[in-house]
Amino acid sequence: MRAWQVPSFGLANLSIADVPDRALGAREVRVRVRAISLNYRDLMMIGGTYDPRQALPLTPCSDAAGEVIETGREVTRWKIGDRVLSAFSQKWSAGTPSHTKLRATLGGPLPGVLAEHTILDEDGAWPLPPHLSFEEGATLPCAAVTAWHALVDHGRLAAGQRVLVQGTGGVSIFALQIAHLFGAEVIATSKSEHKRARLTSMGASHVIDYASDREWGKTVKKLTGNGGVEHVVEVGGAGTMAQSLRAIAIGGTIHVIGVLAGAVEPLDVRPILMQEVKLSGVVVGPRESAEAMGRAFAHAKLAPVIDRVFAFDEAPKAFEHMASGNHFGKVVIAGAP
Ligand SMILES: NC(=O)c1ccc[n+]([C@@H]2O[C@H](COP(=O)([O-])OP(=O)(O)OC[C@H]3O[C@@H](n4cnc5c(N)ncnc54)[C@H](OP(=O)(O)O)[C@@H]3O)[C@@H](O)[C@H]2O)c1
Repeated sequence: MRAWQVPSFGLANLSIADVPDRALGAREVRVRVRAISLNYRDLMMIGGTYDPRQALPLTPCSDAAGEVIETGREVTRWKIGDRVLSAFSQKWSAGTPSHTKLRATLGGPLPGVLAEHTILDEDGAWPLPPHLSFEEGATLPCAAVTAWHALVDHGRLAAGQRVLVQGTGGVSIFALQIAHLFGAEVIATSKSEHKRARLTSMGASHVIDYASDREWGKTVKKLTGNGGVEHVVEVGGAGTMAQSLRAIAIGGTIHVIGVLAGAVEPLDVRPILMQEVKLSGVVVGPRESAEAMGRAFAHAKLAPVIDRVFAFDEAPKAFEHMASGNHFGKVVIAGAP
């Protein structure tokens, strides 16, 4: 079977290999991959910056949609022909994470899904919501589940609350859609004028240019009558935290998710204690959260925002497109023809 692999770190080394199909374990399913979506983590994994000790060669990517084409002899959850999505961790079905659950993630350390077929644990797959195509469904396993697990599971998002989303990548656009699903108001940021127009058309009540307004946290505070937002979906990381601490409401939650603006910066902790701000770390989420989200999306007929679908053979171009930061929402690669 054909699979994209990095034999050594670096996007320039991403190449197609012929990988032998291995036999299924008793509780595994073989899935014909019909679509894959990219996450910023995949770029970091390929570049060797996510885990420099990752064993190579690695097939990248965690997010796949496909059809079950073979089942192990003890599999009870799936039958041939079922439309499934990969779960980011193959061992985190429910509850809190553990070392074992967090070491069972696809696209590093486990082999990823950017291949003709992939093998999933029967508990490491969940149903593709019936209203979605393979391309749409493939956008969900990492970015959407992260936004859901942060805002809904950890954050107990409620109608009438205010949510700040940063930039227009996969996690942030899903966070906007989920916030609206719950009747929350969204304030968004983007460095790009045409993306800001799109955010407005998607219902963001205020949109701020974080590149020209370096004090955007203060602006958010002002826009909310000095109340601040109850949730920040923090994908910038250390580089945006100081402004997030200005934007957050007393008792609000900063969902610490990404490192797009850097991972290490000096931090004044006083606003955290003086305003009882909660810092809530998020690492994607369990399969049960994914399934709950899938049911909610199906009920609301919520459609993920796909920026562009690349052909399987164009995978390096898809990663370059993602690295450019020009995308809005999710970048998708179609399954091998
Ligand atoms: N903890 C977890 O479980 C988890 C799960 C998923 C993702 N992540 C992390 O979350 C982050 C986002 O992931 P993603 O896949 O959504 O990324 P992505 O799709 O690559 O997001 C890129 C977008 O982020 C925006 N951005 C870049 N730098 C920014 C900054 N300094 N301030 C505000 N926005 C900025 C830009 O939007 P504009 O062009 O509109 O400005 C850019 O287009 C990454 O660091 C990723 O590793 C973590």
